[in-house]
Amino acid sequence: MGFLARDAKLLAAVFLLACAWAVAAQATSNASVPSAATLANCPKKCGNLNVEYPFGIGAGCFRDGDFELICNNSTDEPKLFLNDGITEVNFDIDTSNGGSLFVSLSQLIPLRSGIDVYNMSWKPPGRSFGWQNMELYFSGCNFDAYWLYDDLHPRALLCTVNCPEGIRETDIDTWNCNGTGCCSSGKMKGGEAYSFNVQFVRHNHTLEDVAEMQSPNRSSLWDRIQVGSGTKAIDLSWAITDQISCAAALENKTNYACLSGHSTCTDDYTNFPSYLCVCEGGYFGNPYVLGGCSSDRGYNPAPRKANCSRTCGNISIPFPFGLEEECSARTEFQLDCTDVSSSTLRPHNYVTTSVSNINVGEGIIVVKDDSDNTVSFGPLYSGTMFTQEMQWVVANLSCKDAALDITTYACVSANSTCLGWHTTDFLGSYLYIGYRCKCTHGFQGNPYTTDGCQDVDECETTPGICNGLCHNTKGGYYCTPCPEKTQYDTTQMKCTQSKRQKSLLLGVLIGLGVGFGILLVALCSTFAVYRWRRDVKKKLRRKYFRENQGLLLEQLISTDENAKDKTKIFSLEDLEKATNNFDETRILGRGGHGMVYKGILSDQRVVAIKISKVIEQSEINQFINEVAILSQISHRNIVKLFGCCLETKVPLLVYDFVPNGSLYDILHSGSESTFCLSWDDCLRIAAEAAGALYYLHSAASVSVFHRDVKSSNILLDANYTAKVSDFGASRLVPIDETHIDTLVQGTFGYLDPEYYHTGQLNEKSDVYSFGVVLVELLIRRKPIFSGESGLKHNLSSYFLLELKSRPIEAIVAPQILEEASKEEISSVASLAEMCLKLKGEERPTMKEVEMALHTLRTKRSKYRIVAPENDQEMQPLLYSTAETITGHPLAIPVDRNMDHTKPNMI
Ligand SMILES: *[C@@H]1O[C@H](CO)[C@@H](O)[C@H](O)[C@H]1NC(C)=O
Ligand SMILES: *[C@@H]1O[C@H](CO)[C@@H](O)[C@H](O)[C@H]1NC(C)=O
Ligand SMILES: *[C@@H]1O[C@H](CO)[C@@H](O)[C@H](O)[C@H]1NC(C)=O
Ligand SMILES: *[C@@H]1O[C@H](CO)[C@@H](O)[C@H](O)[C@H]1NC(C)=O
Ligand SMILES: *[C@@H]1O[C@H](CO)[C@@H](O)[C@H](O)[C@H]1NC(C)=O
Ligand SMILES: *[C@@H]1O[C@H](CO)[C@@H](O)[C@H](O)[C@H]1NC(C)=O
Ligand SMILES: *[C@@H]1O[C@H](CO)[C@@H](O)[C@H](O)[C@H]1NC(C)=O
Ligand SMILES: *[C@@H]1O[C@H](CO)[C@@H](O)[C@H](O)[C@H]1NC(C)=O
Repeated sequence: MGFLARDAKLLAAVFLLACAWAVAAQATSNASVPSAATLANCPKKCGNLNVEYPFGIGAGCFRDGDFELICNNSTDEPKLFLNDGITEVNFDIDTSNGGSLFVSLSQLIPLRSGIDVYNMSWKPPGRSFGWQNMELYFSGCNFDAYWLYDDLHPRALLCTVNCPEGIRETDIDTWNCNGTGCCSSGKMKGGEAYSFNVQFVRHNHTLEDVAEMQSPNRSSLWDRIQVGSGTKAIDLSWAITDQISCAAALENKTNYACLSGHSTCTDDYTNFPSYLCVCEGGYFGNPYVLGGCSSDRGYNPAPRKANCSRTCGNISIPFPFGLEEECSARTEFQLDCTDVSSSTLRPHNYVTTSVSNINVGEGIIVVKDDSDNTVSFGPLYSGTMFTQEMQWVVANLSCKDAALDITTYACVSANSTCLGWHTTDFLGSYLYIGYRCKCTHGFQGNPYTTDGCQDVDECETTPGICNGLCHNTKGGYYCTPCPEKTQYDTTQMKCTQSKRQKSLLLGVLIGLGVGFGILLVALCSTFAVYRWRRDVKKKLRRKYFRENQGLLLEQLISTDENAKDKTKIFSLEDLEKATNNFDETRILGRGGHGMVYKGILSDQRVVAIKISKVIEQSEINQFINEVAILSQISHRNIVKLFGCCLETKVPLLVYDFVPNGSLYDILHSGSESTFCLSWDDCLRIAAEAAGALYYLHSAASVSVFHRDVKSSNILLDANYTAKVSDFGASRLVPIDETHIDTLVQGTFGYLDPEYYHTGQLNEKSDVYSFGVVLVELLIRRKPIFSGESGLKHNLSSYFLLELKSRPIEAIVAPQILEEASKEEISSVASLAEMCLKLKGEERPTMKEVEMALHTLRTKRSKYRIVAPENDQEMQPLLYSTAETITGHPLAIPVDRNMDHTKPNMI
């Protein structure tokens, strides 16, 4: 939910100020505190769309200008617009939906003779909004559409429209633009530009065009360009931007938005620093108005309508879900069957998410989202889109509270029971509670409908459950021994007269014969299918290989002597073998960016195989260059890239396997960790990582910016030597350029605020992130952590703020206090403080950081030479208290001649 204010210098300035935390004041917005009296007269609907505060129609009904809505009810079907009057809102405004809105755009550009160039521009209507994804279509005749990125970059061709003779407007399919009368911009990401500017350039007219245009019954396509988002809604996010975080909002409650009792504030990380309000666990409604959050009574066990359709194509839709409001138990369970023939079922109001299965017994819904966004389904659902299986509850109530009100209690079937559930959000700080129902043991069916739970006839479903006679009862069964003169036959699973051996033998023989025949047929057909599949797979692999510019990489490698024996293009087969067909058990980690598998190559090398995030086709060349260059880098503190595989849709990267996890794991795994990182190890690992980054920044002909420096990207090998990894986000920069403009990437909590705002990447962005790692080492807290109050803090802001009010010794982790000297602590703290400077130019370079850390280490080891303990360069990681040195190393002179800055060049 981020938006980038590349062109909004004001925003950048505001942010920079705000981040300093000293200044809580912001550019004021005219937020109004809603009173029940004023809101009572505000329209709640426009047409059939619901409107909720902070949004509103008409004076006094909205929070500030950004949230004003315009309802144009001069048309038959009233239309709802955002404050700019052109961005149309297509779905209910629902504040429990985590600051997300779907909107659409439709603009008509009339063409005039003699003018061939037209501009069109759209941007989110106010700084409370950001756009995530959009795809526009352009319909008309014979023009090119260009994307105007900014004044510095040349325009980029998005698509071209041509019209054959006699084309009619009705021929155009704006769902599926292919360049005939209509073309599509392709998917655009909000991170790329704050505003979206397109330029249309008409083609030079041919004689045929002129004839067509002068024809009296020509299509209107020739007279205008239509811009629209069609069925592909624009995903807009919103948040309260008066304050940069919950902490700031609570400090200055002037315009605090979370007005309802039982509401709480949550930082909006992915957006522009801002916050959102949510109702506390167990409460439901609108947190932005007084009394908005009430305990969840939204479940209706007996909806009005009978004869509801319960299928969508071949997907069945059991109650409490339903296709209409009157058929489902609550609005959150309403689904839309958008296409019966292809069984396309979507949650109501969600346009990119499809549902493929609903399981009422287990409380699971299987969903898939086609957009690249994190889609939130509100507090009734938990689980991640990544696994595609989400769990659901019927209401955010505990079983005890739910049962208090029988009119909203969901477990209506006899022999059903309530199951309580609670979980925290992905950051572990916000608690959700809820319940669902279940048939009691021995019953199965739908616990949400009267008599939905039916007895299971165990004697039928589980033959052989008794070694004798089986008797079903409601909710169970019991066994009795076989009647006299009979005996239990385990093959027939019933009581029989005495066995006849002969017929048994015959049976076995026949059985074997038939079985063998079937096996043979099965083998043959399996083999045929296998061969056919293999051919199809082969073709697909070749296609991906081409698309992924495999030939370019081959060329790069073959022209580069140096790379030849190093980079390898792996075949998919190699990697399938290495990972046992990407077996579940080989997964080392997974996350938003992809998965990492452990593999063993045929030459017994142990590797980590990373399935990277999806790469835009346009970035493939750059990716290939990067692979070629990174694979040449050989530095003892950088994870070695062996090569890649280009035969899959997203390229796979093959790295050296680093066995001991990441610095993050060790720092933040709490008491489970068997390791305890000593202060010496901290300093060493920090210095090693700094050296690696310095090396990347300064290496040979091109600088490599890492762009995603964080403790989980600093891995530790068998000797606990630091290995910097994951250059997935890095981009190479020619050495004479000081910065490059890129899509903002990185991890929240480590992200350089200046880079975030200007989109200008430079080496100082890595320095900032490294500063956060230093703070992590000092304070031993996660980059985003929950404080005692349950609020989430940003570690770097917390550190800078605390540093102003308390001595550093009061902030650092107790263990550090024991082991490190005062001087060392304050040196590292001030180094971190320098790295976290808001202005990149005020931060030290990676070289200076490395030097500073090295100096500290040298001082410390000199002290140790004086001390009778060991003076090894490589300290053992396992820290033992016997080694603690508590002296004051201040008196030890620094050896200034020592050359400690030279990295291992290749
Ligand atoms: C509190 O924030 C508002 C803007 O929301 C600002 O106008 C006001 O000056 C701030 N007050 C203080 C004391 O910082
Ligand atoms: C729609 O228009 C009527 C008058 O035509 C007006 O009274 C009403 O308030 C309007 N509704 C909205 C939601 O603007
Ligand atoms: C605040 O109100 C003033 C005048 O009352 C107006 O000029 C300004 O645009 C408003 N600002 C916002 C953010 O709505
Ligand atoms: C409402 O829509 C009509 C037709 O689209 C347009 O002519 C009119 O100007 C709109 N009114 C407002 C207040 O935007
Ligand atoms: C369109 O935008 C470009 C780039 O901003 C500008 O140079 C040009 O003059 C504009 N053209 C029109 C017709 O407004
Ligand atoms: C593009 O789509 C139109 C229908 O909208 C169809 O008539 C035309 O044949 C298609 N062209 C190509 C090249 O696929
Ligand atoms: C259109 O014609 C002009 C000269 O008349 C030429 O410079 C230009 O390149 C042509 N444009 C296209 C798209 O062919
Ligand atoms: C099933 O429900 C019925 C009706 O409420 C009840 O009489 C019976 O005891 C229940 N059986 C079990 C096994 O819970």
